[in-house]
Amino acid sequence: MNLRSFLFVPADSDKKLARGAVAGADALILDLEDSVTAPNKPQARAMAREFLGQRPRGQRRTPFWVRINALSSGAALTDLAAIMPGGPDGIVLPKAEGVADAARLSHYLDAFEVQHGLPVQSIRILPIATETAGAVFRLGEYASHRLPRLLGLTWGAEDLATALGALGNRGADGQWSTAFRTSRALCLMAARAADLQAVETVFVDFRDSEGLRTASRMARHEGFTGRLAIHPDQVPIINECFVPSKEEVERARRIIAAFAQSPNAGTVSIDGLMYDIPHLTQARRTVEVAGG
Ligand code: COA
Ligand code: MG
Repeated sequence: MNLRSFLFVPADSDKKLARGAVAGADALILDLEDSVTAPNKPQARAMAREFLGQRPRGQRRTPFWVRINALSSGAALTDLAAIMPGGPDGIVLPKAEGVADAARLSHYLDAFEVQHGLPVQSIRILPIATETAGAVFRLGEYASHRLPRLLGLTWGAEDLATALGALGNRGADGQWSTAFRTSRALCLMAARAADLQAVETVFVDFRDSEGLRTASRMARHEGFTGRLAIHPDQVPIINECFVPSKEEVERARRIIAAFAQSPNAGTVSIDGLMYDIPHLTQARRTVEVAGG
């Protein structure tokens, strides 16, 4: 199932946890990493565990993911040990250094699933795959070493800026500057090459709804399947932007019908435009994402 919106909720905030639960996101991400200060992390772990436990698997309207700390931080196993009794649906892995990090997390999850009586391989993984300079060079690995737990790939521009020593990630025109645009495109291609969901990064200016709408439409146009959110008000906009419009579904159905009528044709024409097999593939995907 395609997840359109993933809402980050700092796990040390009772108020935000309660508000996040009813925000309408396709997935919540209880954050134990960058939105939680070091002294608050133990409390955030306990609160995430409690939140998960109050809404056990099978009784959740939306999947609950947890963003743990990076494997390099030394805190990831402490995070996992704390939250696993609550049965999270997925783990967001920040600062992932290629598929090796995702594989290591997957092995940890194998053990935790057995320990807590959870179905084996049921916890999914979403790596944030561009948060270090080295990680960008390893994006192609996700296609060559496929991990069944992977749901998608997402990218991060804030940590990458720090890793590069960049003073910002956008140019004077407000657009991503070259290194970030490149990482974003590579993440999209890596996700698609590995048959994974391609999840657009956060839009930090959370009061700018029109800017979010324009950027999200563009992201979907380019092939992204969903987006990370940082504020509940962003969720309905993202949900709306990452579904095909009525016109798109209508056109997709016409393309599928035209090929069905000419089963031996490699190309068809509709309203004076040529459509070939890649268009048919995309049309089928559009109808599938729209729910058949
Ligand atoms: N999840 C759940 N609830 C949230 C929320 C979130 N991500 N962001 C804001 N809210 C709540 C607020 O607590 C507030 O609740 P209230 O009406 O009961 O007081 C309400 O939504 C309105 O919030 P608002 O006043 O507009 O924003 P704010 O100044 O309180 O918070 C941020 C702004 C950016 C600090 C906040 O949105 C946030 O913490 N976002 C997540 C950050 C994060 O997780 N970053 C890591 C990934 S990059
Ligand atoms: Mg970060």
